[in-house]
Amino acid sequence: MKSQDDLLFDLRWKRSAGDFFSAFRNLYGERPEVEARVKALLERHWQARPAELKALDLQRDLEPEWFLSEKMVGYVFYVDRFAGDFKGVLQHIPYLKSLGVSYVHFMPCLKPRPGNSDGGYSVMDYRAINPTLGTMADFEKVATALRHEGMTVTVDLVLNHTAKEHEWAMRAKKGEKKYQDYYLMFANQEEPLAYEKTLVEIFPNDAPGNFTFYPEIRKWVWTTFNEHQWDLNWANPEVFIEILDIMLFLANKGVDCLRLDAVAFMWKRLGTNCQNLPEVHDILQALRAATRVAAPALIHKAEAIVAPRDLVPYLGVGRHKGREANLAYHNNVMVQFWSSLAARDTRLMTHVLSTHFPESFRNASWATYIRCHDDIGWAITDEDAEAVPGLNAFHHRQFLADFYSGQFAGSFARGGIFQENPITKDRRNSGSFASLAGLEAATTEAETNAALDRILLGVALMASFGGLPLLYMGDEIGLLNDYGFVDIPAHANDNRWLHRPRMQWQNLSPVQQRIFEATRAIIARRKLLPQLSAANPTHIVDSGNAALFTFIREGDEGPLLGIFNFTDVWQNLPEGFIRAQGVQGFHDALSDGDVAVINGAIAVPPYGRLWLV
Ligand code: GLC
Repeated sequence: MKSQDDLLFDLRWKRSAGDFFSAFRNLYGERPEVEARVKALLERHWQARPAELKALDLQRDLEPEWFLSEKMVGYVFYVDRFAGDFKGVLQHIPYLKSLGVSYVHFMPCLKPRPGNSDGGYSVMDYRAINPTLGTMADFEKVATALRHEGMTVTVDLVLNHTAKEHEWAMRAKKGEKKYQDYYLMFANQEEPLAYEKTLVEIFPNDAPGNFTFYPEIRKWVWTTFNEHQWDLNWANPEVFIEILDIMLFLANKGVDCLRLDAVAFMWKRLGTNCQNLPEVHDILQALRAATRVAAPALIHKAEAIVAPRDLVPYLGVGRHKGREANLAYHNNVMVQFWSSLAARDTRLMTHVLSTHFPESFRNASWATYIRCHDDIGWAITDEDAEAVPGLNAFHHRQFLADFYSGQFAGSFARGGIFQENPITKDRRNSGSFASLAGLEAATTEAETNAALDRILLGVALMASFGGLPLLYMGDEIGLLNDYGFVDIPAHANDNRWLHRPRMQWQNLSPVQQRIFEATRAIIARRKLLPQLSAANPTHIVDSGNAALFTFIREGDEGPLLGIFNFTDVWQNLPEGFIRAQGVQGFHDALSDGDVAVINGAIAVPPYGRLWLV
């Protein structure tokens, strides 16, 4: 008789084999011996999987929507900046609990190259923890402790490139053909130049061009991001197998979710911008189908900061429906939040968020966020801007860059310009949530209160929009820009460090305490509202008042109407509009108070946020 374990493996293999082969063969054709190696790999990792994690697999097989629950709330941090190292994280678990966090994302924590490592995204060993943070054993201890507290662990896995100090790259440099095939290397510049014609620049100021010449090997290497980040050759099935091996290794160490970095760039084709190509979706489907066999508790989160049209497919559409990433970053919520706040006008936001995005996905949803460790790129297209009378996309992008760098007269924001593209003139912005929202520049009590309200507007929005909300470390206490980054040589040239300050554990000011308590309250209220499960659709509605952004979350318990005032003045919302959305009670589930209807309307305070049920 087969053991229960073997039986489970067989059943899961049967469940996922179709999804796996259909994608894998699109990429690599029919390769029986390669496929046999993939299956053997899955068996090996399944056998090695700890019993506690196998129990979790079963639990999540039974509740495949576990990560969509309204109880899920994320918190993202750099281990060193939050707690020194992994041992330190153990001490701060009570803090995470008190905030209401159920999903913890450690920013890049695998062993990076020495010196400038692009914030850890230049990895030289995927099987080792960054030694300055601890060992793999320390990591496992933290992951286990968090799991026992009902929290989940996310780590970054960089799929598009490795550090040039990674063993594969070093061996490629030494001339080993096998490893040269892991990367994209060219003997002369012709091909790179042909590709460059249609490629874009990611870091135009610090890392112009997409290829680097190495005289010691006399080859051009594809380096989309920085020179030290060598793009992997995903057309080689050996790369697929290596990465799958790493994914399962990490899953068996207790990782619940892998943040798949820069996935848009994984496949290249001449004459295209080499982003979001159809093969990328096959790679992601094949990886997910495979890890579902040997570590079904693991979910995948795609990081693709791309235009709406290109973003949606990462959550699975068409033949990939329910088969691709479980989560994807909704960068448009972030962009539109800041755009509406500066413009005091939500029309573009309403247009973009209601036009380009499905109201729900199959076993997948957004990661919603207002700030993260990266810059804000003003991804506003001409086409979308045209939907708003009088709005010009270029000028609006320029306005936003000026506004959030504090250059625009009267701007409440303080931030920096990150990368100026000399050709398109586009400029992105750096800056912490609180500094961009006005807390740094506030000099009067009224200005401080306004900044606080803008912050809470953002927190309430991401907590209810639909998806898994991700709070970025320190935003819950309003940490300001950290101008000291220029003193650290490895950071000095990258002003994204402006918004990656160290956590402040002591001497919180009264305003910081207010932000913390209010953030905590929003999280606690979210967790009580099943309407806010990410499994429920988000339906954006236009109230006709450009100051307000409004949406309906459809739940079995009846709808929840989210109302957000992006201006600093009171706004009226007619009772009739609210009733037409199916909301009859006029109870604000966010403050747990009733809202008065006066003269046929409710009044929404400056930067007010309401969850009417
Ligand atoms: C992702 C990361 C970013 C990094 C890039 C290259 O976009 O979020 O910080 O620079 O990938 O790895």
